[in-house]
Amino acid sequence: MRTAKILAIDTSCDDSSSAVVEGVRVLSNIVASQNQIHKKYGGVFPTLAKQAHKENLDPAIQTAMAQARVTWSEIDAIAVTIGPGLAPALEVGIAKAKELSLAHDKKIIAVNHVEAHALSPLACRGERNLSKGEDSVANTHAKQPQFPSLAIVISGGHSEFILVEQIGQYHKLGQTIDDAAGECLDKVGRILNLGYPAGPLVETFAKKGRADQFSFPRAMTGQANFDLSFSGVKTFARNLIAQLETEKKLTRQTIYDLSRGLQDAVFAQIIYKLERILLSSDLQNGVYPSRDFLRHLADGQAPLTPIKEIWLGGGVAANISLRQAIRRLLHKYYLQSGKKIKLQLRVPYSKKLCGDNAAMIGVVAGYKLARGEFAKVGEIEREPSLGI
Ligand code: KG4
Ligand code: ZN
Repeated sequence: MRTAKILAIDTSCDDSSSAVVEGVRVLSNIVASQNQIHKKYGGVFPTLAKQAHKENLDPAIQTAMAQARVTWSEIDAIAVTIGPGLAPALEVGIAKAKELSLAHDKKIIAVNHVEAHALSPLACRGERNLSKGEDSVANTHAKQPQFPSLAIVISGGHSEFILVEQIGQYHKLGQTIDDAAGECLDKVGRILNLGYPAGPLVETFAKKGRADQFSFPRAMTGQANFDLSFSGVKTFARNLIAQLETEKKLTRQTIYDLSRGLQDAVFAQIIYKLERILLSSDLQNGVYPSRDFLRHLADGQAPLTPIKEIWLGGGVAANISLRQAIRRLLHKYYLQSGKKIKLQLRVPYSKKLCGDNAAMIGVVAGYKLARGEFAKVGEIEREPSLGI
């Protein structure tokens, strides 16, 4: 049977994106970035984002269809992000999806942006999207996901641990109680005039920085939950920068050291909570925390089965140090737990799939289409605070 082809749209924040997918296979994925527009503000300016989406979305859709070499007659449905995101930005994508649905008589699938980041590691390259020299078999036939898996979504707007019991059945284990991890990197980067978004530059600088120069706080280590908090790290960095400026010690090398300290502190917290989750899910050994807490974790309903895979998505998932830190933890957990199989980390196949993009929206929509979950055109509304 032919797999349905979906045209996907994402305008949740500052990227206008459109993609064509066939199940989890990505035939094209066009992202028109607005970074240059928002750079001077050190963050996203919603009204400018809306205007830029209006200008960039049509060309993005046309290019996505041309690259995938599909016509409207071959498209089975249109997928669009309905939230979470910036209300004025979401509005543009939703209006375009409705317009195209009416013009071409296609069904609409409403997609949650965080679910899309969570499932982004499942995407694989379609044949028409292969770079030269790549192994087409390895890239176009993804391994079937194992359940339950743990999806870690770390981006500029979100930092969440999500237990994926099945595709479409999620249980949020923890999330940031203040800033998202990427937001923390961006805000400190803004104080240092690193441009927007600062995350990629923080990664580059951190490689040249020394780990032992500053003692950033290791927040949330005393709490028996899986929530995260990065505002303490941000405040520490802000005060440190002010002090270094006063003392005229803000040199190039200090900025490298600061980037290293900041990145290590942010990632250490994610790793710490991830380890707690793995230990908690290991009921057999019952190391951490108490059974009472486990009951709270599963809302007293779903029995917690050992996690089979770890998925990492979101803009910050592009960071190689974060991936390495997670892999090191999985190795340590494998050695300590005495399990026969080491947990594997799945990451998106390209950096483009880590940041905001429409291919991941299409991947979620593919599963929804298979379940017959279509939205009524008249009832689709933007949902800026939509949760998973
Ligand atoms: O997923 P995304 O494009 O947008 C949201 O949904 O938020 O994530 C953007 C975030 C920004 O905070 C950016 O600084 C961060 O991802 N980011 C990185 C890296 N690349 C992007 N952070 C650390 N290291 C990177 N290489
Ligand atoms: Zn995002």
